[in-house]
Amino acid sequence: MLKIHLGKSEISMIQETFLKIEEIFSNSLKENNKKIRVRGWIYRTRSSGNIVFIVLRDSTGYLQTTIKKGNIQENEFKDAKKALVESSVEIEGIIKEDKRAPGGYELQSSSFKIIQFAEPFPIVEDQSPEFLLDKRHLWIRSQKLTSIMKIRSTVVWAIHSFFREREFFEFDAPVLQPNQTEGGSTLFEVRYYNKKTYLAQTWQLYAEAAIFSLEKIYNVGPTFRAEKSKTSRHLSEFWMAEMEAAWMDLNDIIEIAKDEIKYILKKVLINNKKDLEILNQDFNKLHKISNSKIPTITYSQAIDILKKKEHMNIEWGKDLRTIEEDKLLKHFKTPIVVTNYPIEIMAFYKPEDSKYPKTALCFDMIAPDGYGEIIGGSQRSIDNEYMKKRLIESGEKTENYEWYFDLRKYGSVPHSGYGLGVERLISWICNLENIKDAIPFPRTMLRFNP
Ligand code: 4AD
Ligand code: MG
Repeated sequence: MLKIHLGKSEISMIQETFLKIEEIFSNSLKENNKKIRVRGWIYRTRSSGNIVFIVLRDSTGYLQTTIKKGNIQENEFKDAKKALVESSVEIEGIIKEDKRAPGGYELQSSSFKIIQFAEPFPIVEDQSPEFLLDKRHLWIRSQKLTSIMKIRSTVVWAIHSFFREREFFEFDAPVLQPNQTEGGSTLFEVRYYNKKTYLAQTWQLYAEAAIFSLEKIYNVGPTFRAEKSKTSRHLSEFWMAEMEAAWMDLNDIIEIAKDEIKYILKKVLINNKKDLEILNQDFNKLHKISNSKIPTITYSQAIDILKKKEHMNIEWGKDLRTIEEDKLLKHFKTPIVVTNYPIEIMAFYKPEDSKYPKTALCFDMIAPDGYGEIIGGSQRSIDNEYMKKRLIESGEKTENYEWYFDLRKYGSVPHSGYGLGVERLISWICNLENIKDAIPFPRTMLRFNP
């Protein structure tokens, strides 16, 4: 490798001389005895006498390498023998077929260069979930988290391309906000000089201001809720992908939400087949869902299913909790959309549906297999008096909302929007037991480090 500093051209020289592990398995280099170079980290190592077996990993995969005394310089052999897992290395050699090696090929090395000898790695097999969360900065190197992070990257990219293809503009809202939107009990208070403000519970209210100039907008951004429950579905900091559009009603946005979910699934199926396999997710099941119709039912129909088919004693007017959502979804193979929740339990900005009094023009999308609500959205009220009344009923002061009420005074139009919980969706797609693994560094009621 060139060592002289040549600025940009040096960087490209270095990158050209190394192959990614995935490239080795996917091209013909493996057959023609050509010398290749790889670099990465030692995933596993064992030695016996004059031979060291090292499984090397990089961002694309795992490769078995053998280092034999006599085939390489003496000092390099000693280094290979001494190097512990997670040491960073560069290896040169020839690819040979070997049925016993993972992937069927191994690298027979002719040169082994240590970049850094790792100290004994603190993570060994069978450690507790809490320990792994303490060592999260190291645990994100694991195969499982690597696959999840790759899928997360596809999901977020798919959200952007879905909305861009439909000519939505990306719009950013402030993270520090003076108001609650989704209920005061989950607000994170922040000292703001000598005043107080809150971390965003949603992008929505500011999006409602921006539709008057941009009409169709979306965003993917961090969202904060001081959730007091410790469930496998709640984070204190999560990412929400929201959309808001002028001139759209509830039915319009429900159709967009259904299309978005199927679009994201298709992108993951194309880009992350290997990752889904690593995560034990059923590719065919997701593939089928990505081509299925997503049904819509009303809240009242959901209550009927729970009463009749699940023999649950549930009163009309109560929110669907985890247990109800899970029982309901036993009757469906795809996500479902539930509309018209009781208005009493809904946020102040959701209007009443004149066709079904006492219910709101709103919807949730609920994922199958116990993953719960992945999307929440609604048409927006354009009636300031109604919204003021709802806010006062919930104990809010309305002064901080005057700017929001202005939006209904100067050319108000029907509009609607929804928010997709990015980690909820990832949990479902990745078949995760806990939402904490859907985000690299989870924040929950009990944890905000590392
Ligand atoms: O249903 P929510 O509360 O809706 C809103 O915030 C609307 N203002 C969105 C909009 O209309 N623009 O939240 C939307 C989604 C939920 O369906 C859920 O998937 C996710 O955000 N979510 C959470 N995800 C992880 N941890 C939490 N604590 C979450 N709270 C909500
Ligand atoms: Mg909701």
